[in-house]
Amino acid sequence: MSHLELIEQGALVFEGETIKWVGREADVSTAFPKARFEEIIDANGMLVTPGLVDPHTHPVFAATREDEFYMRNAGKTYMEIAEAGGGIRNSARRLRQADEGTLYNNGIRFLNRMLKSGTTTAEAKSGYGLSTESEVKSLEVIQRLDKNHPIDLVPTFLGAHEFPDEYRSDREGYVRLLIEEMIPLVAKRNLAKYCDIFTEAGVFDIDQSRRIMSAAKQNGFELKFHADELKSVGGAKLAAELGAVSADHLVYASDNGIAAMAKAKTIAVFLPSTTFFLGHKEYAPARKMLTAGVPVALATDFNPGSSCNTSLQATMTIAAIYLKMTPEEILNAVTYNSACAIGMQEKVGSLQTGKLADFVLWDAENYKQLPYFFAQNPVTSVFKRGQKVV
Ligand code: NIG
Ligand code: FE
Repeated sequence: MSHLELIEQGALVFEGETIKWVGREADVSTAFPKARFEEIIDANGMLVTPGLVDPHTHPVFAATREDEFYMRNAGKTYMEIAEAGGGIRNSARRLRQADEGTLYNNGIRFLNRMLKSGTTTAEAKSGYGLSTESEVKSLEVIQRLDKNHPIDLVPTFLGAHEFPDEYRSDREGYVRLLIEEMIPLVAKRNLAKYCDIFTEAGVFDIDQSRRIMSAAKQNGFELKFHADELKSVGGAKLAAELGAVSADHLVYASDNGIAAMAKAKTIAVFLPSTTFFLGHKEYAPARKMLTAGVPVALATDFNPGSSCNTSLQATMTIAAIYLKMTPEEILNAVTYNSACAIGMQEKVGSLQTGKLADFVLWDAENYKQLPYFFAQNPVTSVFKRGQKVV
């Protein structure tokens, strides 16, 4: 986490969408004695990094929820708003009424903002449908966004995001619907790589989470968890026990949970812009987890409720101030480690021969300026699969 491979006066050679060579500029002509380069991109004085990888986002929704933001700032809590029928259920009502075109256009709008901030690969969750039909609709929108937008998307099924209105007094009924209908259908139609769940007090408890996620595993999904975000309920420990790829949020992860994650090498995905945007005082115990040897990644958690943030740059700044992460840890956490959190480390997350030519040119003198340049987007240009997209 604290080691970065830096090249001063560096150069990168790519052909089509693939990196062919990375090294010092002075060595290019020795490495390619006969080559004629079609184009030379001058990055003089700039920092070049891998395209950023955002491993936790919720970009498919019908409407924003700014009213809830101001309700919280006036004193209501996230859970009070959720229990009164707002929050995720508010988004579910709107998404069910929306046609695919609206969801798709919204998605494009916000993915464009992510791209301009330097993100070239992202995970994308469903989870605002909460019915078989609307969850499938959301995952199909993610598929279309992945196809048509430069950002590569890794799809996650999050039907277990909340109990929808019609199942409030029959929670077991929704658990059955997930296990017996939704999970097998999404698996059969190959609409998602990961299955995720909101394991939280008042949402899916540990027993329900264990049953749902075991079924997901049996259906061939890899697992992710929204774990211990608002209360300590044992989500981190369950994620490690079931062999999840990552457990995310983790503000209230227990010592047991942290030890189990370190042992199982479950990746901790911290979402500090969520804590910030909710106006909470307590942040995830990042230093403790780093010391315990837990692999760490960072994500925006972009969603219309708890984190309306499309920029990993904002996440980096908040991680520096509140998670006390070093600039080296932060850069690893938004590139290689975040690629690992979505199984994309063979293709993206570092500038290495054979990987995709996804990289960002920054108007910055060194990597330490990335978390430090606060809210000013020093991105000069973004290349995705060898194409200049910003
Ligand atoms: O990661 N915590 C649960 N899910 C989202 C919030 C979703 C919403 O409020 O719309 C999160 O914070
Ligand atoms: Fe989330």
